[in-house]
Amino acid sequence: MVTRGNLLYPEKLDGFVVVEKNKRVGLLTYRILDGECEVVTLDSLVEGQGVGSSLLNAARDLAVSNRCRRLWLITTNDNLHALGFYQKWGLQIAALHRNALEESRKLKPEIPMIGKNGIPLRDEIELEILLTP
Ligand SMILES: CC(C)(COP(=O)(O)OP(=O)(O)OC[C@H]1O[C@@H](n2cnc3c(N)ncnc32)[C@H](O)[C@@H]1OP(=O)(O)O)[C@@H](O)C(=O)NCCC(=O)NCCS
Repeated sequence: MVTRGNLLYPEKLDGFVVVEKNKRVGLLTYRILDGECEVVTLDSLVEGQGVGSSLLNAARDLAVSNRCRRLWLITTNDNLHALGFYQKWGLQIAALHRNALEESRKLKPEIPMIGKNGIPLRDEIELEILLTP
């Protein structure tokens, strides 16, 4: 993964898993740095059943208990579904990093030029929720 110009290896990060009937159906990875909690990956294998929300809830609770100032994440301009989901959950758009994927491709050249929905993959959209101790 590349977020904000940092190459991250999700398999080395801590995370949360949702297990249903002995099957893993959701995974969130995160990192805590400088008093902020970044959600690095979020994947639900059974969409629309609350898995994604419960993972974000767990990350927010962890961030609060670690006295983080905010929970934040990056999605890309093509991921219209995630953008809707995150805002409904309570995250707010905090910044638009135009053409950030140009820099990301220097670290991870296999990032495609065209993303989801046939949309050119160009920008990072930063979303956050501010946390009160
Ligand atoms: C985005 C993702 C994690 C959502 O997971 P999920 O398990 O479907 O999420 P939930 O079931 O908890 O959905 C929670 C709510 O968000 C709503 N929602 C989901 N997508 C939405 C959208 N595009 N717009 C508005 N609301 C949306 C659901 O209807 C649900 O509402 P409800 O609680 O009122 O019923 C999942 O679609 C996914 O894994 N996508 C592929 C990977 C990905 O893009 N990850 C994000 C990378 S940045």
